[in-house]
Amino acid sequence: MNQVSNRFSSTRSGNNHISLVDGKNGRLIYRGINTMELAVHYTFEEVCYLIWNSTLPSKEELITFKEKMYAKRRLPKHILNILENLPSEMEFMSILRTCISALGSKNYTWKPTLEQAIEITSVTPTIIAYIYRKKRGMDFIPPSLDKGHVENYIYMLTGEIPREAQVKALNAYLILTMEQGVNASTFAARVITSTESEMVSAVTGAIGAMKGSLHGGAPSKVIEMLNKIGDKENAELWLRCRLECGQKIMGFGHYIYKAPDPRALALREVTRSLLGQNKLLDLAYFVEQTVIRLLKEYKPGRKIYTNVEFYAAAVLRAVDIPEILFTPTYTASRIVGWTANILDQSKSRKLFNPQVLYEEIFPK
Ligand code: ACO
Repeated sequence: MNQVSNRFSSTRSGNNHISLVDGKNGRLIYRGINTMELAVHYTFEEVCYLIWNSTLPSKEELITFKEKMYAKRRLPKHILNILENLPSEMEFMSILRTCISALGSKNYTWKPTLEQAIEITSVTPTIIAYIYRKKRGMDFIPPSLDKGHVENYIYMLTGEIPREAQVKALNAYLILTMEQGVNASTFAARVITSTESEMVSAVTGAIGAMKGSLHGGAPSKVIEMLNKIGDKENAELWLRCRLECGQKIMGFGHYIYKAPDPRALALREVTRSLLGQNKLLDLAYFVEQTVIRLLKEYKPGRKIYTNVEFYAAAVLRAVDIPEILFTPTYTASRIVGWTANILDQSKSRKLFNPQVLYEEIFPK
């Protein structure tokens, strides 16, 4: 029998100019700008531009950029054919991965370009909305070419024009989850790009990584917890029982952030305007306060704060995005970070060729 060591799992694999994850001080920075500020004061389109171009757009640049993005929302005919013909029981993320992969039948050759990044990012919400509505037995709503990226996404899912507060909350969520250093899926995208394979292959591979339950599935567990608590009156007893048994509370604590998770703080801020309008969000605010108080009592001195998953779940629910759409929606935002990393990686001619230690373990 032989065994492969896991030493590779935390090897430093290059420099990153796109985002900084500063866990000690609770900061997430995109291209030099704090995401707290971006999430509250900027739009999805502006932050896309920043992540891809390293600078925020001028007014004129933003107009041209939006025109380009919105024009790419329509489903290409062959993608529509694929969507119509894939088996209905196929899993959501597998359909999305297949469709993104099929975008490669167009002229997506090496080297990756910004135009390709724009196209993949713009068409993904349309594919997601199509899959969602088909799974629910509803007719497809074609994209509107004059709505903002976030407004159009909600419109294609629900058929309704969302309220401003909903757009603001989802806009913040999408911005805060666009990019997070070189995590597992981003690393997958970089590895594929390092072989000089085209952008569509790299994004397809990244979706494969995102699809795994350890990466993209966390907010569902928070919803499960909030559903079990059900009402403010039950919160304290339910949470105490869990802590007494030594169990963890979902949506609290983080591997890297040992200060308040900036993404959770920003989401809490933007959802204030939705308070009183959504029962789950109201419950989430109450549960958070209770957990913070109880963690001080049960885990004094540990640096455990609310993490992004806690508010991600509440925000998505507050804007009427059901659980089946959690991971696809996360994917629709993270595509921006993946494509920025793919463009960055394509400048280097270095092939990732990891060394893994071979250890022979034979019984003597
Ligand atoms: N609830 C209760 N106690 C907790 C929690 C929690 N959520 N998180 C940590 N603790 C306690 C631990 O029990 C431990 O207590 P002890 O010192 O008495 O043994 C202490 O705090 C330190 O915990 P660690 O496990 O060392 O913290 P670590 O940083 O390794 O773990 C982790 C981080 C795994 C995320 C953990 O906080 C956790 O399981 N949280 C709940 C699950 C969750 O929300 N996951 C999503 C994370 S965000 C993301 O992945 C994008």
